[in-house]
Amino acid sequence: LSGDEILIVSNRQPYIHNRRGQKIEVQLPASGLVSALEPVMRACSGVWIAHGNGSADREVVDSRDHVRVPPDHPSYDIRRIWLSPDEESGFYYGFSNEGLWPLCHNAHVRPTFRTSDWEQYVAVNARFAQAVVEEAKTDDPVVLVQDYHFALLPKMVREKLPNATIIMFWHIPWPNSESYGICPWRQEILEGLLGSSIVGFHTREHGNHFLSCIDRILEARIDRDSSTVSYGGRLTAVNPYPISIEWPSRWLENQRPVPDCRVHIRERHAMGPDRLVGIGVDRLDYTKGIIERFLAVERLFELQPEWVGKFSFIQIAAPSRTIIDQYQHFHDQVYALAERINKRFGREGYEPIVLKVKHHEPPDVYEYYRASELCFVTSLHDGMNLVAKEFIAARDDEQGVLILSQFTGAAQELPEALVVNPYDIDQCAAALHMALSMTPKEQRARMRSMRGLIQEFNVYRWAGRMLMDAARMRRRIRVMKQ
Ligand code: G6P
Repeated sequence: LSGDEILIVSNRQPYIHNRRGQKIEVQLPASGLVSALEPVMRACSGVWIAHGNGSADREVVDSRDHVRVPPDHPSYDIRRIWLSPDEESGFYYGFSNEGLWPLCHNAHVRPTFRTSDWEQYVAVNARFAQAVVEEAKTDDPVVLVQDYHFALLPKMVREKLPNATIIMFWHIPWPNSESYGICPWRQEILEGLLGSSIVGFHTREHGNHFLSCIDRILEARIDRDSSTVSYGGRLTAVNPYPISIEWPSRWLENQRPVPDCRVHIRERHAMGPDRLVGIGVDRLDYTKGIIERFLAVERLFELQPEWVGKFSFIQIAAPSRTIIDQYQHFHDQVYALAERINKRFGREGYEPIVLKVKHHEPPDVYEYYRASELCFVTSLHDGMNLVAKEFIAARDDEQGVLILSQFTGAAQELPEALVVNPYDIDQCAAALHMALSMTPKEQRARMRSMRGLIQEFNVYRWAGRMLMDAARMRRRIRVMKQ
């Protein structure tokens, strides 16, 4: 695709400019989508179209609403789209995060579908589609559309730029056809997505669910062997592309050696040098299994009381979508549970669960990864889960144990992790005990193998495979036109 024009569309932007008094600070959001795509965009440049939501975002853009990033080595542009409060409420909080997010995750939170949210979702998709058309300098750009916020955009762009190569990547799970069927706009969403040249998911299973939904809802021709859909005279490929992280991670560059990270983190939390530490890193989201995780720590203390006083679990929880009731309720539940467990097993100078509800920048998070005996990922449902892969990338000492929910895409790639069912609290407690008792030799063998895999299947491989498939398609179309 060298020489081809690349446009990315996502709701979340890679850099947020915020005003703090006299200064403008740049923040990197807690988003799996952003952490995966940002290194790719650095490598191939282009324009990233996203929602401008920072308090100083307007101060730094030019007259076309563009700003050059990354701040240290500018190599590509963000084009910011400004959403009105009504648009943000209906498109982002409403349809995307109260409708599609719970619809696509088996976390037993009921989706809410409001017609007014849907109308904003349609309108905002149209605004972003218009921005793609404005930004395109050629009639056949490569447009990388990201996630459930933009299901309708591929069709809208296709109508204006019929020769574009549109790759839609769905970063979250796709539900089975019965669950999906409750969405009042099930047909429009599928038709919107089929405007893409390629629709990508993390796993083949999610792609198969998507095909079953099409089979049930649209009059389309599906070829399961080639995994393509023919609808309205157009062909769309449906492929798995498991997302990953950059390797080597840029967040390791300025890290201190692991023993220093261990000392520093223990000092910061007033823990003795021998305290064993587990780490969890998530957005404060009900799909992440944080309640189940804390219950597993409690169960560990019940079953194996020798760990009381010796082990603390640190949970970094970035506040997320805090306007939505479900998230506020979840926040309160998580707080109350941590408090109850700390009352039961804590004492002066010993806090079993350290809950840090605050955004942490990546270098900080990586220091916690390096300082911990284990990383505990208990998502109830997750497209991939990049925390698992980041923990592995952070451990160049080949130590540390990953406990990983079987309901993440990552579990399919990382059988050397201790794979658990987060609903089975006893099993999770047993995995904690096993992790805390594991010999350095076994840790090294598991970690080495996982590191080998991620080094090879890094995020450049993810993007490269998608872009190579797109390039092949473009070549075929050019040949057919000759
Ligand atoms: C998930 C979604 C992303 C989203 C991220 C953070 O990873 O797939 O699209 O950016 O969560 O959520 P937020 O609502 O803050 O963008």
